[in-house]
Amino acid sequence: MLKIREFVQGDDEEVWLRIGNESFKEYDDFRPSTMEDMEIWEKDPGFDPVGMFLAEMNGETIGRVQAYVDKKREEKKGFVRALGVVPEFRRRGIGRELTERAIKSLRERGMETAQCWIRDDKIPCKHLFESMGFDLIRIFSAMRRELNIIPSDVGGNEDVRLRVMREDREDIELLRWLVDEAFSEHFDFRASTLEEWKHWSEHPDFDRKGWFFALLAHKPVGHVGTWIDSKFVKHTGIKRGWIDTIGVLKSHRRKGIGTSLILHGMHYLRSKGMTEVELGVDDLNQTEAIKLYDKVGFRVIRKDLTYLRNIV
Ligand SMILES: CC(C)(COP(=O)(O)OP(=O)(O)OC[C@H]1O[C@@H](n2cnc3c(N)ncnc32)[C@H](O)[C@@H]1OP(=O)(O)O)[C@@H](O)C(=O)NCCC(=O)NCCS
Repeated sequence: MLKIREFVQGDDEEVWLRIGNESFKEYDDFRPSTMEDMEIWEKDPGFDPVGMFLAEMNGETIGRVQAYVDKKREEKKGFVRALGVVPEFRRRGIGRELTERAIKSLRERGMETAQCWIRDDKIPCKHLFESMGFDLIRIFSAMRRELNIIPSDVGGNEDVRLRVMREDREDIELLRWLVDEAFSEHFDFRASTLEEWKHWSEHPDFDRKGWFFALLAHKPVGHVGTWIDSKFVKHTGIKRGWIDTIGVLKSHRRKGIGTSLILHGMHYLRSKGMTEVELGVDDLNQTEAIKLYDKVGFRVIRKDLTYLRNIV
């Protein structure tokens, strides 16, 4: 007998992690999630245990899903996330039941659409969501390059000065402002809060020395942030870092500032011993960011798909 029950905060963390780790271990960039990750997540200002479900079969937990409502969003769009069924119990309709439960939960909380993300090579996920009426609405590219040679002859801005982020509240506020300004016209944008950035900056892997502001005549006009997931590097042995975010104010685009920023981020990651770097970009990004990444040698390694369904 299949039973789908609510997640109980304080009791179910370990089982939530176990199901996730068993379900996602087939991913090529998998690393196990730990209790420390869970504790950090539960402290996130946006964390909400409501909508988290576990599937049990004869008392054994075998699947999970999260139906997430982002309370900071005005539009009535919810998210289906973290869906996983352990391999031995697949193809028995459990993924579908969990997704249906998640949609019901979003509907009960007033959501009108449900969105989810799927990697293009995850055929079971694609079939599952497409068979449940989700439509592909947006495609993102994951891009990667090695860091052995970092190009120096690809332009850049001669006048721009890059300064490392400081630890104070003022710089966190500046980062928040620069990111929101740069992304305000982007797909799925919602303004971030200082509290969220503060939480991010307190993550044990957050390294402010890898976060930079671009200054023109002392005025901040852009930012770049790098990320190294220390547990990923330790688990896989792959020395891969990420360009977490990069942006230039609209008024200062097409002047080589983005090039200077990304090159700087790449040099920083290499200085930390990374041998490759990855980033994600919206294929329909109006600023054609993908061309910048292409210019500095990134190549597409995967597509990440966004699906949406009307749930009214
Ligand atoms: C995706 C996942 C949750 C599906 O769980 P599941 O319990 O096996 O799914 P169901 O049995 O409910 O299948 C429902 C539909 O999904 C599709 N599907 C599931 N597995 C499939 C497979 N191996 N190949 C093709 N289609 C598949 C089919 O359309 C299926 O309907 P059908 O059986 O009537 O043809 C599971 O494969 C999983 O945990 N994958 C790893 C974790 C993951 O990638 N999560 C992210 C999901 S976006």
